[in-house]
Amino acid sequence: MNFTPLLRLLPPEPAHNLTINLLKTGLVPGSAEVDPRLATQVWGQTFRSPLGLAAGFDKQAEVMSPMLGLGFGFVEVGTLTPEPQPGNPKPRVFRAPGQKAVINRYGFNSVGQEAALPRLQKWRETHPTAALGINLGMNKGETDPLSAYKTGVRRFEELATYLVINLSSPNTQGLRDQQTQGLSDLIKGLKDSQSRPVPLLLKVAPDLDAAQIELIVKAALDQGLDGLIVSNTTLDRPDSLPTNLQTEAGGLSGAPLTSKALKTLRQFSAQIAGRMPLIGVGGIMTGQDAVDRLRAGADLLQVYTGLMYRGPALIREIHKTILDAMETSGAQSPAELKGTAA
Ligand code: FNR
Repeated sequence: MNFTPLLRLLPPEPAHNLTINLLKTGLVPGSAEVDPRLATQVWGQTFRSPLGLAAGFDKQAEVMSPMLGLGFGFVEVGTLTPEPQPGNPKPRVFRAPGQKAVINRYGFNSVGQEAALPRLQKWRETHPTAALGINLGMNKGETDPLSAYKTGVRRFEELATYLVINLSSPNTQGLRDQQTQGLSDLIKGLKDSQSRPVPLLLKVAPDLDAAQIELIVKAALDQGLDGLIVSNTTLDRPDSLPTNLQTEAGGLSGAPLTSKALKTLRQFSAQIAGRMPLIGVGGIMTGQDAVDRLRAGADLLQVYTGLMYRGPALIREIHKTILDAMETSGAQSPAELKGTAA
């Protein structure tokens, strides 16, 4: 049964909490078959599908198994902050169903890394090869990003398939500035602090101009970063949004982000030129959106808002559309769609 329309009867944050609790019961059936032709190799690891769950859905690392059971090739948990913190006052999430969009200003509500760590350790023991991203943040008011992100890297490097330095939430004051101020030193400091070569990724905003993109790419390549996630939510407020949402602070996701996130991915991809993997995310609401992102240079993909509106049917549609596109283009793997024309 698809619960998605029923959940929409509740305000978005209680609906999300109920979803997590339902998933935690283990009663949600889930052992979706994933076609072996979707298997994708990145960082020497096998992802059984290039499609993953974006950060922010499983912020506290509670439902990795049920989400993988829905057919995702990987799950990214977090953002987890070093210390627990409550996030912003409620309400802090808003739906615009007519535009298939969401605005959120959660502000990194987090149980904290120490609370999530034993859960992830226990899970890893029984899921040694499952693909897991761990998204790291810093606490509100923190002034030393290097020390904050080092703490996360140290805690989770044994467990993660990849780690994410999230510098692109619009809801923590000053965070996005770190994308262009001192980025090279931050990446270098984190790389130097690693005791295992776990891929280290940076998640960027879609609200960057060409000069900022160039700066990020240069720092990433110079310092040997392992990948980029393009992108987080946008600060844009398109005219199409209802007037009551125009003035809500926070990051906008879903359909109004599709073309901007695709364009930003193309800009990064053109400069990276295959020198590091890219994860495409932002407004992937249909199978075609997913194929467009692979053609534009994404190695892996993620969804969040599309799942809120479409439910698990979106995962099946994306897998089918990728397989159809592979057949039409003669591609042997999703990666071979890169650079092909529609
Ligand atoms: C997010 N996103 C997010 N990203 C992140 O790195 N850490 C986080 O904690 C969160 N939290 C979060 C909460 C909510 C309610 C939403 C809708 C989104 C951003 C998310 O991972 C993704 O980058 C964007 O939402 C764009 O993708 P979609 O949602 O358009 O598919």
